[in-house]
Amino acid sequence: MIDAHCHMLPGIDDGSKDVAMSLEMINRSVEQGVEGIIFTPHFYADMNSPETFLRKRDKALAELEANLGRLPQVPVYTTGAEVHYFRGMSRAQGIESLCIGKSDYMLIEMPFRNWQPNMIDEIEEISIVLGLRVIIAHIERYFDQDKKLVNRLLENPNLLIQCNAEFFIEKSTYSKAIKLLKTRRIDLLGTDSHNLSTRRPNMAEALEIIEKKDKKDALGHIYRSGRRLFEAAL
Ligand SMILES: [Fe+2]
Repeated sequence: MIDAHCHMLPGIDDGSKDVAMSLEMINRSVEQGVEGIIFTPHFYADMNSPETFLRKRDKALAELEANLGRLPQVPVYTTGAEVHYFRGMSRAQGIESLCIGKSDYMLIEMPFRNWQPNMIDEIEEISIVLGLRVIIAHIERYFDQDKKLVNRLLENPNLLIQCNAEFFIEKSTYSKAIKLLKTRRIDLLGTDSHNLSTRRPNMAEALEIIEKKDKKDALGHIYRSGRRLFEAAL
């Protein structure tokens, strides 16, 4: 399985605080059957330009890479960003540089404030005008937004949908997760892990739950989407 969304790079955002924590998070992921990891630190346009962000990300990655040899097994990995939505992002300079690896896939986190139709227009612009493949991060967090707008995302075949492992693990959201799984609309899974305690790597727990309920090879679809993403990224 590919972990398409996590905060395992050391010291760059509110995720892993240092190299030791990053190594342990990666190690646990491998033990849980994760074969590929996309490191997606938060990008906020009001805090950093893409250039500054990339410089910080390169530094964090170099620090991690200098220590990866300490792990018994190193998964395939690449870098991206969890790009927080901002108005005008479809026209922002250098925005494409935040795509995952060499690919044209970009992970976007939608705002938590009330959605407006122009936000969805902007996402569509990114995919049509810039030709980027937008991955909507943890769609489950937005299920209390205007249903019509959420459906515009879910029904757009050009967009990819990512869910967090927690969506399946949490008892309060489990049924919704299985319902969405059955539509085969989940393209990618992520742990969105930030640390070793409250938001730890938890892919195995989610996979165990999904495997019991997956009658339509939805998991096969997720595996294939992840593989395609990695092929484009590396
Ligand atoms: Fe995240």
